[in-house]
Amino acid sequence: MQIKGEYKPLIVAFCCNWCSYAGADLAGNNRLNYPENVKIIKVPCSCRVNPMFILRAFQRGADGVILCGCHPGDCHYTTGNYYTRRRMSLLFSMLNFLGIEKERTRVEWVSAAEGAKFAQTMNEFTEAVMKLGENKRLEDLRCKR
Ligand code: FES
Repeated sequence: MQIKGEYKPLIVAFCCNWCSYAGADLAGNNRLNYPENVKIIKVPCSCRVNPMFILRAFQRGADGVILCGCHPGDCHYTTGNYYTRRRMSLLFSMLNFLGIEKERTRVEWVSAAEGAKFAQTMNEFTEAVMKLGENKRLEDLRCKR
């Protein structure tokens, strides 16, 4: 994404409703800064995120996709984030084959009380994706504006 000539990566952040989204909320309430180009998508639980959602986000022009959920053992649905962890490990193992740098994706556990961690994670992740540059490999040109 180019804004006034300056490259700003488009980051999609899937956040579970019970912990990570509340953590993002806390970051906002505490006026902690994180990049405005982080687009948050609230999901009921991190396990709701099908790996295809992540690939689709890349296809639609995202430069980085991060998935945030409750800490292991704290999932509102008891075992949801264990499924997430397994699914994402599998997806990460295939990313190189699909032509996407592994550093463009990340899974992070953020609790509702960790607003500072949420902001710090988003800042670090955005910086890491910025170093990689624009995601051109899986971008579906039909979806380009
Ligand atoms: Fe947060 Fe399941 S409710 S990971």
